Amino acid sequence: MDIRRLTDRLGGLAYGGDYSPEQWDAEVWKQDDELMRRARINLATVGVFSWALMEPEEGRYDFDWLDAHLDRLHTAGVAVDLATPTASPPPWFTLAHPDALPVRPDATRLTHGSRDTYCLASPAYRRAARRIAAALAERYGDHPALALWHVHNEYATRCHCDHTAAAFRVWLRARHGSLDALNEAWGTAFWSQRYTAWEQVLPPRASQWHRNPGQALDFSRFWSDETLAAYREQRDAIRAHSDRPVTTNLMLPGYQNLDLWAFGREVDVVSVNHYPSAPGVDAAAHAAFDADRARSFAGGAPWLLMEQGTNTVYADGRVLAKDPGDVLRHSLAHIARGSEGALFFQWRQSRAGAEQWHSAMVPHAGPDSRTFREVTAVGEAVARLGELAGSAVRTEVAVLHDSDAWWALTVDGLPSSELDYFAALRRAHRALWDAGRTVDFAHPGHDLGHYRLVIAPALFLLSDVNAHNLRRYVAAGGTLLVQHFSGMVDERLHSRLGGYPAAPLREALGIRVEEYRPLRQGEELTLSDGSTATSWTESLRTEGAEAVAAYTDGMLDGSPALTRHAFGSGHGWYLSTRLDDTGYAALVGRLLSEAGAVPELPGLPPGVEAVTRHAPDGRSWHVLINHGADLVPLPQAGHDLLTDGPVHRLPPGGCAVLRAH
Ligand code: GAL
Repeated sequence: MDIRRLTDRLGGLAYGGDYSPEQWDAEVWKQDDELMRRARINLATVGVFSWALMEPEEGRYDFDWLDAHLDRLHTAGVAVDLATPTASPPPWFTLAHPDALPVRPDATRLTHGSRDTYCLASPAYRRAARRIAAALAERYGDHPALALWHVHNEYATRCHCDHTAAAFRVWLRARHGSLDALNEAWGTAFWSQRYTAWEQVLPPRASQWHRNPGQALDFSRFWSDETLAAYREQRDAIRAHSDRPVTTNLMLPGYQNLDLWAFGREVDVVSVNHYPSAPGVDAAAHAAFDADRARSFAGGAPWLLMEQGTNTVYADGRVLAKDPGDVLRHSLAHIARGSEGALFFQWRQSRAGAEQWHSAMVPHAGPDSRTFREVTAVGEAVARLGELAGSAVRTEVAVLHDSDAWWALTVDGLPSSELDYFAALRRAHRALWDAGRTVDFAHPGHDLGHYRLVIAPALFLLSDVNAHNLRRYVAAGGTLLVQHFSGMVDERLHSRLGGYPAAPLREALGIRVEEYRPLRQGEELTLSDGSTATSWTESLRTEGAEAVAAYTDGMLDGSPALTRHAFGSGHGWYLSTRLDDTGYAALVGRLLSEAGAVPELPGLPPGVEAVTRHAPDGRSWHVLINHGADLVPLPQAGHDLLTDGPVHRLPPGGCAVLRAH
């Protein structure tokens, strides 16, 4: 396990953040050394946005300043996560290679003045990125401070330029083999879109109305592959000179530019950034959601929270401050779910520049501040959790997460603008989190046999192979909930004919959907069990399943809305509408209990988060966070690593890490 090499090197969990000494002077560096010692920082990410300093003109590198900082950090006992600076090419690069600037779908070519302004498919950019990665690796590959390589920063941008078009065509030829096959896959018989030469095929640029959905889906797949290829080139350039593990910090936003499963397989260590999108308990639920995703993309192995903010909650166009204690609660929420530490963007709040108002571990006010005191206390707490390193999380519940299905649900021409893959994922996860369960995310093609319950929200696109996999899962004893508008199309986005969803899944669910009927905005229906339904309905008939709840008004009066099918040794459930929150929570509760998925630490009231990490040698730890307003007695007393003493109850907002018996 590559992350083990990191924690062994650090002697415990990682604590620290992005560090940009180039923004400061010698006096501040001296203070940094002292403050890092006080905050128990053991890992600093250096160089993320330092291209202009590292390569002041094309091909001329200047690393003297970096030598000095790496040596200084090493002397101060801080290991280095060294970044390649390729997320922010300097202005000279733009002027020398204007064709490497990214182009939007509407043909606007961007220019420098911000960051991330490059086209990943541009040969000049790729050459320059490989070169600087190799130069860094050659110089620092064996540096004693070096603990981890950090390629790039948050691969996320897309481009629609001519370089992209050329690379897209190469990818399409490999995928489809012939232009005829591409025409067939994309359904170009509609609207006279037939291509007769490869040069006619373009990225999905701005056009008059709905763009071809097959083209859009393939472009998403292509761009993820192209991004992964760009990552691999840097990684391999580094590996030629260094044996330290390599990561790239992934962003887990509400949109999907990368197939994160594929990235998870290519990095030595999965690392992610997390910035909550709402304050309070919603932030905690969001942290759990992203942390569960990170662990899942890491294949269950420990991973690393590379960035969070000390005081950063992005909500409603504002950057809200975190509540006192949130830094510890959020850090623990990630560590509970397998993160081998808690890192921040950034160490010292910038005095100038585009992110000067973004929070940091040392704020503008300096160390005499609530924030720095909290940072120091959390550093102390993280230092006490070293024995958790290398332990893993187990769970019996999974939510399916598929890039293809997500991308498919973003194409033009869908029957409702309320079909939102990310929102459906969040909702399923939130219901399970509220019910006190730790959740894995799984791909519909994974072996699901060890899960008691699997939920498939918005699995719009489903290949035959994966539909058979889900059928097998139910037949072998699993409980599967499939939600509306799932299994509608195959991997080419071609509709399933003869009734939805895909045939193998229909068998497992014992239903046949004949018609989808989005509801009007604000329209609400009552179901026979008293719950309400909005947004979507379907006309379906049971073919072996029992109707658990039915529609009670409108044209669907009396027809099944929620069904349950005993199939093989398992159960296939189908929910053909969007239930209100209470109804959905009740359904999830029933599924958990019917599937026999019990919490690992029973006896806790709602609002207390509890996740268990298990070491290979049988030791385990319960990480507990009380999000409620009441003092909570613990079902079992234990030794709390945070206080190094016994703990019997948790105050509101309180946390504990119990060594389990
Ligand atoms: C991250 C990014 C950092 C910083 C931070 C601000 O997404 O990697 O460089 O911009 O956001 O929230």
